[in-house]
Order: sequence, then structure tokens, then C-alpha cells
Amino acid sequence: MIGDDGRTPDLDTLAIRAGGLRSPFNEHSEALFATVSFVHESAAMAAKRFTGEEPGYIYSRFTNPTVDMFERRLAALEGAPAALATASGMAAITTLAMTVCSAGDHIVTSGSVFGSTLNVLGAPVMGKFGVTCEVVPSTSLDAWAQAIRPGTRLVFLETPSNPMADVFDIAAIAEMARKVGATFAVDNCFCTPALQRPLALGADVVVHSASKHLDGQGRVMGGALVGSEEFCRERAYGFLRTTGASMAPFNAWVALKGMETLPLRMRAHSENALALARWLSAHPGVERVHYPFLESHPGATLARRQQSGGGAVLSFSVRGGREEAWRVIDAVRILSITGNLGDVKSTITHPATTTHGRMSAAAREAAGIGESLIRVAVGLESQEDLRADLARGLGQL
Ligand SMILES: Cc1ncc(COP(=O)(O)O)c(C=O)c1O
Repeated sequence: MIGDDGRTPDLDTLAIRAGGLRSPFNEHSEALFATVSFVHESAAMAAKRFTGEEPGYIYSRFTNPTVDMFERRLAALEGAPAALATASGMAAITTLAMTVCSAGDHIVTSGSVFGSTLNVLGAPVMGKFGVTCEVVPSTSLDAWAQAIRPGTRLVFLETPSNPMADVFDIAAIAEMARKVGATFAVDNCFCTPALQRPLALGADVVVHSASKHLDGQGRVMGGALVGSEEFCRERAYGFLRTTGASMAPFNAWVALKGMETLPLRMRAHSENALALARWLSAHPGVERVHYPFLESHPGATLARRQQSGGGAVLSFSVRGGREEAWRVIDAVRILSITGNLGDVKSTITHPATTTHGRMSAAAREAAGIGESLIRVAVGLESQEDLRADLARGLGQL
């Protein structure tokens, strides 16, 4: 078993080896347990398993060996004691909020988290249960210090943010949350543990959409919460097994096998994205590029302290407005015009009219998401081909 010799294996090794469970058939590749329920050898054994007196699988909404392997591997990568797999990233975020908060509690989050996250934490979902949510519009530590107060139960952020690549100081905000006894959760979809480990910087819980880089090839939906044994296996698990947004074994199997190449892919995504960001910065048709590892980025020093790579996502504004941005998007032949990210295939979007289209114009303006902004989630195609694909549209401006 890895780690038996007392040596902590490197991330590349954990991604391939951690969390594997072997059935009596001694398969080499991890097995997919496509079963709804599990058989007990006697009525007495069934009774003991149902009361929790004896360990054992019962029903796949509760636990499943393939899902267990996914959880064990992800926990090892994040440096955590436990993880809890969910049906999607949003299921993870809903489970987190419902586990931590009760009526009268207060949530603090950033204005640049994923739109559906804002809806869950804010008025449309948690607001219905008497939970209030305060949205911090910037990365300024003073603004976070003002928002986090006694009564705050959950502090939630995403770093770097989408699509502007704002970088938040995880350690400093963790300290503020700790002082008021709030649970501090970081959505680590953009970096993954291959580039950033929020728990080591003071976060209590890491949130994932496995639909992004963990699978890495845009195939399955999934999500996870990662943290302490007590949080994942006792508190959040109780809510999840009853309400049922559990991860499907097939999805767990795909993401588990995807994770084997996670560190390798994240290094390559980061290398491709930085090269493209630098090239775009020098292009006369481009006004501004947002990428955390770009020297001109206001959060570059912090990003290099917290992250070992810049990740796959960059955004840039073209000279002009919506028409010019759409012209660049419509000229691509390799990049896919789609809202997803975290795929080996590069994707391109116009946030103001798609992913962020439901925000008010004023809120978009405040977040810096203008009509001329384009987001690219850089995949693993050749740098030269990606440059040529974008140059076609940019050359027409
Ligand atoms: C940063 C981030 N968190 C969470 C989610 C939600 O994940 P899912 O689509 O798996 O529910 C997304 C989806 O795009 C995302 O970008």
C-alpha cells in the first residue's frame, strides 16, 4: 500500500495510486460497481449494517465502493482526511449550505462566484429558509473584514474567479472566518489540488465540480466536498444520504480514472494558458488580458504564492464591443463555442451574453464583465494552433 513506509507520496503518485480498493478478483484497473444495493449474508448482518453496528455497503445512495475510491483519491490529493461525492458541483454547494446554516444565520460570499452558487447561497434558495447572504464585491481584505461578523456561519469564495481571474487571499480570509467560528469553504474547481491546496492555507472545506478538471474531458457530472472526517462523514453525509444528490457510480469511475492524469494535465493547461495570455497581451486587437500568472495581473504575486500554476482559464477584452467580440468567437475553427471549462478541448464564450447574461447590466459592469470580454478555457491542443485560431478573428478587427 502506498504510504505504508511512512513516506508521503508526491501528488503525481497519489493521483494514480491513492484510494484504490481491490475486489477479490484482484483487478488492476479500479472496478465500476454498477449496483443499486448490496447483499447481506443473513438477517442479523443486514440489521447490524442498517444500525451502523457493522461496516458494510447497503445502498448506493449511501455509499458505493467506486464512489468511495473517488472520495479517497480526491481527499488524498487535497491533503484531507475525507471527501463526500455529490451528483454535481451545485449539489455539493447546496449540501454545504444546508449542512452548515440554519434560519437566522449569515453567509458571506464573493460577488465573483459562479452565478448558480450566488443563487443557492442567496435569496432564491437559502434566503427562503431565513438565511441572509452578504456579497463582497472585491478582493479587498478590508471589505471581507467588514462583512464577516459574529453570526456568520459560512464564508465562501472561489479563487481565481471566473471570468476575471480575481485572486483572493485564502489564508487571510481563513483567519477572519476562524475568529467568528464560521466554516470557510473554497471552490477549487479552477486550480484543483494539482495547483492549489486551500486546506493547507486554512480553509475548512474544499468544494469541487468534478464535471470540470477532475474528469477533465467533459464527460460526466459530479461534485464533492472535501474536509474533516467529522464534517464530511458525519454532518454533510447525513444530509446527502437522505436528500439523495449522491454521485452515480459510473460518474465516480470516470472521474476517478480522469484524476490519474490530473497533475500532468493541469501543468499542461497552465503552460498553454500562460503562453496564450502572453501572446494575446501583445496583440494590437486586444485591450486587456486577465490571467493570474501574467506579470500585469494585480493579483499576480498572491497567485504565485497560493498556486503552483495559473490554471486553464483566461479572459480578454478586444478593442470594440459586442460585435467585435462575437466576430472573434465566430471565426474560430478549433475552439468550441460552449460554456463549459476544465476540458482538454479549448472552449470560448462571451460571458456578458451567456454565462453572466442573467446578471443586471450594472452588476456586470461592477464585476468588470463588459461587452468586449471573451473567456477562453485553454485546453491541451497545440499552442500554435490555438494562436492561429484566435488570430483569424482578431486580425479582422
Ligand atoms: C467554479 C464553479 N463551481 C461550481 C460549478 C457548478 O458545477 P456543476 O455544473 O458540476 O454543478 C461550476 C460550473 O460551471 C463552476 O464553474
